[in-house]
Amino acid sequence: MSATTTTHMRIVRARAAGGPEVLAVERAAAPVCGPQDVLVAVRLAGVNFADVNTRRGTYGGAPGPRGLGRDVLGEVVEVGECVRRLRPGQRVAGFSTGPAYAELAVAHETLVWAVPGGVADEQAAAFPTVGQAAYHLLVTASRIREGESVLVTAAAGGVGSLVVPLARLLGAGRVVAAAGTTERAGLAGADEALSYDDLGSWDDRGRAAAVDVALDGVGGDARRAALGAIAPGGRLVHFGNSSGDPEELPAPRAQRERGLGVVGFHLEFLRRHGRAALATSADLLLGWLGTGDLTIPVHDVLPLERAGDAHRLLESRTVRGKLLLSVGPVPEVHRGA
Ligand SMILES: NC(=O)c1ccc[n+]([C@@H]2O[C@H](COP(=O)([O-])OP(=O)(O)OC[C@H]3O[C@@H](n4cnc5c(N)ncnc54)[C@H](OP(=O)(O)O)[C@@H]3O)[C@@H](O)[C@H]2O)c1
Repeated sequence: MSATTTTHMRIVRARAAGGPEVLAVERAAAPVCGPQDVLVAVRLAGVNFADVNTRRGTYGGAPGPRGLGRDVLGEVVEVGECVRRLRPGQRVAGFSTGPAYAELAVAHETLVWAVPGGVADEQAAAFPTVGQAAYHLLVTASRIREGESVLVTAAAGGVGSLVVPLARLLGAGRVVAAAGTTERAGLAGADEALSYDDLGSWDDRGRAAAVDVALDGVGGDARRAALGAIAPGGRLVHFGNSSGDPEELPAPRAQRERGLGVVGFHLEFLRRHGRAALATSADLLLGWLGTGDLTIPVHDVLPLERAGDAHRLLESRTVRGKLLLSVGPVPEVHRGA
């Protein structure tokens, strides 16, 4: 199909690396839809901690203005000439290639999935990063077995709040939620809720209840506490560093003595090398969201213009579940002859 000749669109950009105040709505040309891409009129964009890191410049990259966001929910308005799976008019959710905090976003056809009719917009918009990460943390990285116990840090956050119900759907045993405060840990609905302080000072009874698998995307004190809660022969999966503290892992000798498995996880690896696995899990996750077996807590939906406030909230450690940006009406897309 021919190229889009739409005028301009609204997009949120970070004018430079910095705090939430660097985010501003600008006007930009619509992105170009390549042969294997779809162009999506974005209805909702997900806000993830990775976006905060992009805004801060933690992920490196060229200095200067940059777009943000990877999670999109919207309608396909154009498909590239080689696209076979999707067609204009379909409601899709998934990962965009370019910025998702925008009225129009380009995505490779293998990284967005048609959303079944029974799934609400907000649930579909919330699922790409946190749903896929939580699922593959448990299945691909941890290789969780029936009945094994799991601990997750930042349990009230985006990824954490999905690990708890998914662990149950996948047949795990006891699920332990850890968070900055006991109250936040309690929001996750796990079998046990502990602050990092409580977890770090587990007594003998606590240690006897050590877990098979700990999942940590926080680092710092949270990771140290999680490590202390892993049973001999257990596994640690590390997938992020939202605390901003220097990243630490047990020394090789300590790993050997404890029989500890240490696994790193990054969705980007699956986006590059595991697209079939992501498609399978997208089917499962969207299916569970449709039947109501899985529900993603949505903390709030803010308008695109308030992306800076969304980042402030995410950095305040008060969000429960997922934050979304509502993009609103999009400019008409005029296709060339
Ligand atoms: N590797 C991957 O593929 C992948 C995919 C998705 C997410 N992630 C990572 O997983 C982590 C969670 O991502 P998310 O989007 O779901 O975010 P989130 O968990 O909703 O928010 C981050 C959480 O980190 C905790 N935290 C601890 N110290 C913090 C600090 N100084 N500032 C801000 N937060 C702090 C907070 O929970 P408490 O107050 O309870 O500690 C907060 O709720 C992030 O590190 C993210 O980069 C990695």
